[in-house]
Amino acid sequence: MASKNKKLNLKDKYQYLTRDMAWEPTYEKHEDIYPDESFEGIKIINWDQWEDPFRLTMDTYWKYQAEKEKKLYAIFDAFAQNNGQQNITDARYVNALKLFLSGISPLEYAAYQGYARVGRQFSGAGARVACQMQAIDELRHAQTQQHAMSHYNKHFNGLHDASYQHDRVWFLSVPKSFFDDARSAGPFEFLTAISFSFEYVLTNLLFVPFMSGAAYNGDMATVTFGFSAQSDEARHMTLGLEVIKFILEQHEDNVPIIQKWIDKWFWRGFRLLSLVGMMMDYMLPNKVMSWAEAWEMYYEQSGGALFKELERYGIRPPKYQDVANAAKNHSSHQTWATFYQYSQATNFHTWMPQEEEMAWLSEKYPETFDKYYRDRFEHWDKEQKEGNRFYNNTLPQLCQVCQIPTIMTEKDDPTVFSHRQIKHEGERYHFCSDGCCDIFKNEPEKYIQAWMPVHQIYQGNCGGADVATVVEKYYHIVPGVDNMEYIGSPDHQRWLDIKGLKPLSASRDKTAAA
Ligand SMILES: [Fe+2]
Ligand SMILES: [Fe+2]
Ligand SMILES: [Zn+2]
Repeated sequence: MASKNKKLNLKDKYQYLTRDMAWEPTYEKHEDIYPDESFEGIKIINWDQWEDPFRLTMDTYWKYQAEKEKKLYAIFDAFAQNNGQQNITDARYVNALKLFLSGISPLEYAAYQGYARVGRQFSGAGARVACQMQAIDELRHAQTQQHAMSHYNKHFNGLHDASYQHDRVWFLSVPKSFFDDARSAGPFEFLTAISFSFEYVLTNLLFVPFMSGAAYNGDMATVTFGFSAQSDEARHMTLGLEVIKFILEQHEDNVPIIQKWIDKWFWRGFRLLSLVGMMMDYMLPNKVMSWAEAWEMYYEQSGGALFKELERYGIRPPKYQDVANAAKNHSSHQTWATFYQYSQATNFHTWMPQEEEMAWLSEKYPETFDKYYRDRFEHWDKEQKEGNRFYNNTLPQLCQVCQIPTIMTEKDDPTVFSHRQIKHEGERYHFCSDGCCDIFKNEPEKYIQAWMPVHQIYQGNCGGADVATVVEKYYHIVPGVDNMEYIGSPDHQRWLDIKGLKPLSASRDKTAAA
């Protein structure tokens, strides 16, 4: 450290308040104290070269966070007291929140657990402090999201058992397995997966759709959470970028390992985001921007600049990004169509887009919407109006890696499924794409363990021999209340009552607390 008579600069002072509290052990071996730092093949030559991504001492952390929390909870209280949920654009919007609370909020909690672990495992004390601060940030997000959603849960269906459903419901194994994959990996892969790929590269594609979606649709509770979390996320992004540069600079042998992880987690993150793309294009009554525009701005442009910067470390842009770029014009339509036909088994409703929404989709997707998707939706709309609302009663094939139904199509031909299959140790496995197939081939012993919800239903492990029983008894989705079509649902009914568009209906009270 600096000499005694010179005043410490900011950087050195922060090191003095963090790293200087650690020491070289004498009566335990270094590798016994930090046993998880070597098996992934990453080599750290000198932890002293760690640059702190941010320099908050604990007393400043408590001070800033307490100020933010005071304001946040004042607004949550005012929102609840004034029944702010009645100011949203339309009750269809709340289905985005159902997806959020059961799909995303449990990931905040999983991130809290993951960062708490790596905040023990790294031998660099600076890395530990940064990871532990992120861990408690993520716990803040998990808990404030419970509070933000709690008043909605009193007034709408589908929100009453989110973390329970996260472990069980078929489509929620998409986010769940994403984070289980990250948390069962070693600490360096965890950081590449979550800090870099998720919190840096893809973060705006998750954050902006939900938070701006709330702003455009009159949801003050969620948008206030979004604003209040922004300064936390700025810290997480800095950690994501600093950590990847640090690992890359430490040893040339780290480069190919990191590249493989970037390829893997870009693809897994991209697949996870297909849920967000569908939400953005179909579930928000007032649109923010199309998924294609969001992907262009936040991935193709920002990601392009980032990967240009990383070139000097010998890193190239993620494998199959060209496939992902092309998919921006298809993914939300393919995903919504899938959920439309399987919403007998979801905790949120689906519906056919209204005429002006279809017009917006035609405009935003000039090459694809009218050509491939409009006809299908108009057909279903007609069927629905004739009393034959379409539900598909046979369960879909799932991808062994991302666990999404294998609904995706070839880059050059959107009429052909990009299904792949391979044999591994005498067993056959199926994939949605080359992206997921490559990931499997690199770590087959990991992915053969996957808890595939559709397979588990057929194995008899989900509390019922038919889908309706599984949905009700095992998923805790209340039939005819939480699931199925939006039009005519109890949420729809209640919304019409609130807006005085129909006389108060008897269904109102009995469904409110489902
Ligand atoms: Fe978070
Ligand atoms: Fe975060
Ligand atoms: Zn897949």
